[in-house]
Amino acid sequence: MPLAYLNGNYLDQADAHLPLTDRGLLFGDSIYEVIPVYHGQPFQARAHLARLQQGLQAIHITNPLSQDDWLQVISTLSADTPAPAQSIYIQVTRGAYPERAHKLPAQPQSNFFAFSKILHTPDPHIQTHGLHAITQPDVRWHHCDLKTTNLLPNVLALATAHEQGADDAILVRDGVAREGTSSNLIAILDGVLTTSPDNPLLLPGVTRNLILRLAAEAGIPCARRDIHIDVLPQADEIWLTSSTREIAPVTRLDQQPVGDGTPGPVWQQINTLYQAAKTQPDNR
Ligand code: PDD
Repeated sequence: MPLAYLNGNYLDQADAHLPLTDRGLLFGDSIYEVIPVYHGQPFQARAHLARLQQGLQAIHITNPLSQDDWLQVISTLSADTPAPAQSIYIQVTRGAYPERAHKLPAQPQSNFFAFSKILHTPDPHIQTHGLHAITQPDVRWHHCDLKTTNLLPNVLALATAHEQGADDAILVRDGVAREGTSSNLIAILDGVLTTSPDNPLLLPGVTRNLILRLAAEAGIPCARRDIHIDVLPQADEIWLTSSTREIAPVTRLDQQPVGDGTPGPVWQQINTLYQAAKTQPDNR
């Protein structure tokens, strides 16, 4: 039975339970993180843990563990899973209280847990053929920069994509395409690697930040500006990026080919650099 971590203890996943009145369950009152681990080494863990800290602070939950304590949890859980690639899921909720009430508890005591999942990335089929995406209205709230567990709009947009035979949806608000349902959006527009500036309407992705650094080091022109929905169909390349998906090329958008309909040359270049970065100790 795989191991889980819950409130300071390690136990079988099947034995890890939270009370029905946990506020994460009742109100989505919680923050989460997903951290990849390759060959036992966490990848970009400190950046993920810094984002966890910022998210918790923004919604006034005290982080129950230090960065080093979380790193120890990640290490223990990943050592228990015999897979070369895995992701560690972490969640901190505002806790469970005797009765359901919207108001914040006077004496908060969070619940916090983590578990591992086997990762199957990079996916050879996606690397060869790419993904098919559709555009969908972004109906999320105005704090998508916080990695809360309020994911129903994301879940339903993905379901709509699947109903339409696509792999994912790109979310569009006020004419601007900002991210996928669980990934950031990057487009190559007239040779420029383009992605939204950081703002409350999208998650500041750890993967995207690394890609921007790798692209700058490789001399690829980069711009952080809004991607308007009317220019997206003319993009040379479109990518969806996340810790679990890595860099997925989108080869069809709303039933039309992106570029020549295959993963493009800039993707090939950056993906090679990204795969190499996964093995470098300074990226842990
Ligand atoms: N999601 N945007 C959204 C809405 C996301 O949910 C994610 C990641 C990203 C990419 O962030 P990062 O590169 O730091 O993984 C962007 C994770 C993987 C998830 O929900 O499982």
